[in-house]
Amino acid sequence: MNPKSLKLSTYISEETLQKKVSEIGKILTEKFKGKKVTAICVLKGSFMFYSDLIRQIDTDITCEFFGVSSYNGGTSSSGEVKVTLDLSSAIEGQHVILVEDIVDTGLTMNYLKKSIESRNPASLTTVTLLEKPEALKVPCKLDHVGFKITNEFVVGYGLDYQGYYRNLPYIAQVQNFQ
Ligand code: IMP
Repeated sequence: MNPKSLKLSTYISEETLQKKVSEIGKILTEKFKGKKVTAICVLKGSFMFYSDLIRQIDTDITCEFFGVSSYNGGTSSSGEVKVTLDLSSAIEGQHVILVEDIVDTGLTMNYLKKSIESRNPASLTTVTLLEKPEALKVPCKLDHVGFKITNEFVVGYGLDYQGYYRNLPYIAQVQNFQ
């Protein structure tokens, strides 16, 4: 389907998203008060959530970026996780917050957790904006979930369909997928 001919409807508004981001930010501020934290942004999908969230966490933060791809631009996970950009520095002994956009099958998050744990951080806290519990193919324990959603394809606020729609400030559902 032509990516530009999707019919979209608002699923989670900008205001609701920002309220949730601020709630999670407060919880993480409490948890990491006085500690230095490394926040990892999972590219590309979580860049918008990540940049809003780290502004709501009031402690010393360094930023890292981890690029992975598993969707090949379509609407279903390939199941195979490919690293497109590795972390730029060691995270051994650091408190790490891993920030994901969405947990669908859980394969990507499990891959990321294993990869980060193998580098011996002091702690690992996982955060995802969205989770589709009905789509999980493997058990996936998450520390903070913004919204649990039904098993439908969504775009916006960093999430794409064939590379488009990441710049929407809200999450939209696609009305016309066959
Ligand atoms: P998983 O490995 O199946 O959990 O897939 C996780 C990745 O697939 C996410 O980081 C997203 O990039 C992508 N993804 C999963 N569901 C959606 C969706 O509804 N819209 C856009 N991207 C999605």
